[in-house]
Amino acid sequence: MLVGSVGDLGDGTVETFEYPLEGTRNFLTRIEGAAWGGVGSDGDIVAYNGLCTHMGCSVEGLVTPEQEMAGPCSCHYTTFDLSKGGMVVSGAATTDLPQVRLEIEDGDIYATGIDGLVYGYRNNLRDGTPIEAATEE
Ligand code: FES
Repeated sequence: MLVGSVGDLGDGTVETFEYPLEGTRNFLTRIEGAAWGGVGSDGDIVAYNGLCTHMGCSVEGLVTPEQEMAGPCSCHYTTFDLSKGGMVVSGAATTDLPQVRLEIEDGDIYATGIDGLVYGYRNNLRDGTPIEAATEE
């Protein structure tokens, strides 16, 4: 699914998109250096689910691309490293932030999958409407 454009991701830009289900919110950003799973010529474009893996508070408004971090979560202070697959750096969470797999084609950024379980789900693709089906209506 198309989620953004390389040309629109300037320094400090954080965009949001829903994937793979309606209402499953993720953020897309370009960090300072190369990242695990990063795409683009410098491998610095990444996307993650926006819900903290501890108890589901949103961290999408707490992304600092220049520090390559999401958080600290406003609920219990977990911080995630966006350069290392969303690894927990500190705080109460014990599970990394789910990372959205990305591919680039002609400057467009596509989400192709998600690694890790989105908070509150037993299956990332169940109990909701797939976003691709929703956008085709
Ligand atoms: S919900 Fe984020 S640290 Fe608890």
